[in-house]
Amino acid sequence: MEVTLSVIKADVGGYVGHSSSHPDVLQKARECMERAKKQGLLIDYYVTACGDDAQLIMTHQKGEDDEQIHKLAWDTFVECTKVAKKLKLHGAGQDLLADAFSGNVRGMGPGVAEMQFEERKAETVVIFMADKTASGAWNLPLYKIFADPFNTIGLVIASNMHSGFIFEVEDVLEAKKIKFNAPEEIYDMLVFLGSPSRYAITKVFHKESGEIAASCSTQRLALIAGRYVGKDDPVCIVRSQSKFPAVGEMLEPFASPNIVQGWMRGSHHGPLMPVSFHDARATRFDGPPRVIAAGFQLAKGKLIGANDLFDDPAFDEARHQANLIADFLRRMGPFEPHRLPLEQMEYSNTPEVVKRLAPRFQSV
Ligand code: 13P
Ligand code: 13P
Ligand code: MG
Ligand code: MG
Repeated sequence: MEVTLSVIKADVGGYVGHSSSHPDVLQKARECMERAKKQGLLIDYYVTACGDDAQLIMTHQKGEDDEQIHKLAWDTFVECTKVAKKLKLHGAGQDLLADAFSGNVRGMGPGVAEMQFEERKAETVVIFMADKTASGAWNLPLYKIFADPFNTIGLVIASNMHSGFIFEVEDVLEAKKIKFNAPEEIYDMLVFLGSPSRYAITKVFHKESGEIAASCSTQRLALIAGRYVGKDDPVCIVRSQSKFPAVGEMLEPFASPNIVQGWMRGSHHGPLMPVSFHDARATRFDGPPRVIAAGFQLAKGKLIGANDLFDDPAFDEARHQANLIADFLRRMGPFEPHRLPLEQMEYSNTPEVVKRLAPRFQSV
């Protein structure tokens, strides 16, 4: 049976500040999802949050970019915003950038990751959701999962993934995309993946079968709005087991935290800390950036889960290391590379300050 898995997320208000989501907002989202399930639009749903971002995980049979599904998500976020406004949550409706829905939520503020596939005998999926970072945060872990034999031993010893994967990479600034074959073209590919502020993996495919393996949200809120309106805290869906990497191979890159963009005011680098659902609250210096992993088995589109995959002492050391990296970077205060380069900061008074001081700059 063909199933579509859609993950659509938005920050509709933070509780408190930008740290987490309010239970009443998530409850409203569940009510909207339940209604759509009863009407037969959804097969199933799961609502959760990572930091101040509400996550709608939905299964249905309408395919990707479906108007009804996107409208459902938009209307749900509008309803949630009403709750957020009533509670005077911080930045209520932050990610709803348009006044009215017009066919598709892409470009309207919410982040979207979707994939349609024939459900396998056992369909394992992992959904990664992050706060205080951006789409390019998935580049390093997805590279390790699908192209690095030191991470994924299946690439070496499992014949059904031995021929590798295809990566689709987007230039988020110029809205162009390109496909790379791994392992054949990894050196070319890494020229771009290593610069995650501009190039982000959008999809990964199993090379032999052409089947979808991973799908990421790559909407750039900052660029959509032309001014700072909130980081595009990203999501990523990954299929697992059999011809795809095992669950443990998917989680392994997060055991050694990498440094991502998006901490405090969307203007700092910080470690991406893997946490349980309970700990997905961005507190210290509005962070550090956090990622959760929700594991599901699909049964005729029903979401069996979520299994909170980072709720495990096996990731304690990664959390400890992330805290050490956070301490180290914080010591630099307003200096790069903790602070982002001027042109990449999400909150920036640079143009104003430059204009004001322009008369005082003298030629050298
Ligand atoms: P599967 O072929 O069952 O997905 O096995 C991979 C594995 O052994 C996981 O560690
Ligand atoms: P969010 O993008 O998660 O709303 O965070 C805003 C911010 O920069 C907090 O410091
Ligand atoms: Mg926020
Ligand atoms: Mg957020």
